[in-house]
Amino acid sequence: MSSHQEFFTLSNGNKIPAIAIVGTGTRWYKQEETADNFSKELVDQLKYALTLPGTVHLDAAEVYRTYPEFSEALKQTSKSRDEIFITDKYSTQLKVTKDPIEGLETSLKRNNLEYVDLYLLHSPFISKEKNGFTLEEAWQQMEQLYKEGKAKNIGVSNFSVDDLQKLMATAKILPQVNQIEHNAFLLNQTPGIVNFCQDHKILVEAYSPLGPFQKKSEANAEFYEYIKSLAEKYGKTEAQVLLRWVTDNGILPVTTSSKKERIENAQNLFTFDLTKEEVEKITELGRKNKAQRLYWNSEYDKFNAFSQSKN
Ligand SMILES: NC(=O)c1ccc[n+]([C@@H]2O[C@H](COP(=O)([O-])OP(=O)(O)OC[C@H]3O[C@@H](n4cnc5c(N)ncnc54)[C@H](OP(=O)(O)O)[C@@H]3O)[C@@H](O)[C@H]2O)c1
Repeated sequence: MSSHQEFFTLSNGNKIPAIAIVGTGTRWYKQEETADNFSKELVDQLKYALTLPGTVHLDAAEVYRTYPEFSEALKQTSKSRDEIFITDKYSTQLKVTKDPIEGLETSLKRNNLEYVDLYLLHSPFISKEKNGFTLEEAWQQMEQLYKEGKAKNIGVSNFSVDDLQKLMATAKILPQVNQIEHNAFLLNQTPGIVNFCQDHKILVEAYSPLGPFQKKSEANAEFYEYIKSLAEKYGKTEAQVLLRWVTDNGILPVTTSSKKERIENAQNLFTFDLTKEEVEKITELGRKNKAQRLYWNSEYDKFNAFSQSKN
């Protein structure tokens, strides 16, 4: 199998593989960890991903309750640690551990790691009353983890422009990443977020990059016909076309699958190029769709009217 991999460069100069191929949330998410719900299927998927050539980017979080499977796959792989890029997240919404320092130290111990490559605050919804610390205090802990080398890069997830501005007012180290919901049917999770991040050298990561396939829009046949025509033109899958559209916009897709072939296709993404016109046409056809938001609806549905507008 030919392997050509691409990387994005973060604001601190560090490289990050341009796609995360196994997210351990969404379809793998569990409300609690028990001996009965250990997913051998997820272990097999992760182990398979770790046999693919190149650096393999995996996306974890304490709130997914999938550390048992994650640690098992890491234990069994022969891939060297410097060819595995691990993203992990501190849960801000449901309390799993006391604070980011305890969160990462617990994760390192449970997954038998010395460091993670990227550690994120899972959401901006943090308050002294709910969490016992403020957003600014949480970020100070993230900075400490970065300085100690326990997290090689630090960032945030689901942050709006206002949240980032609030954090940046006191931050000594700016977030390197903002992981948000993003696809052609939800161009901006919150108003102006993609441009703001790109203007401030914060790499945008797109979770649910295959949103238009997870939930098909009956009203937008033209979009699907166009994606199909590109897949046929390049001899690739429709999912690969959508993932390539994400990376061509300078955004890092975070995908997942229960099928080995789809994981392999994701790692093998950089075997074709869309033209600039094709990328723009996908954006414009997607923009015709009304906002399709799969996550954080109660917090962000109020922005649906803005998510597909040009800004
Ligand atoms: N930070 C956050 O708040 C947040 C929120 C959500 C997700 N995430 C992260 O992002 C990861 C990926 O999220 P996601 O699952 O929404 O990503 P996605 O890549 O948009 O969707 C993956 C799902 O799409 C299905 N799929 C793949 N190819 C398809 C096709 N051609 N047609 C129809 N369905 C297809 C897969 O099903 P099969 O298994 O059948 O292939 C899989 O269940 C999560 O696991 C998690 O790590 C983060």
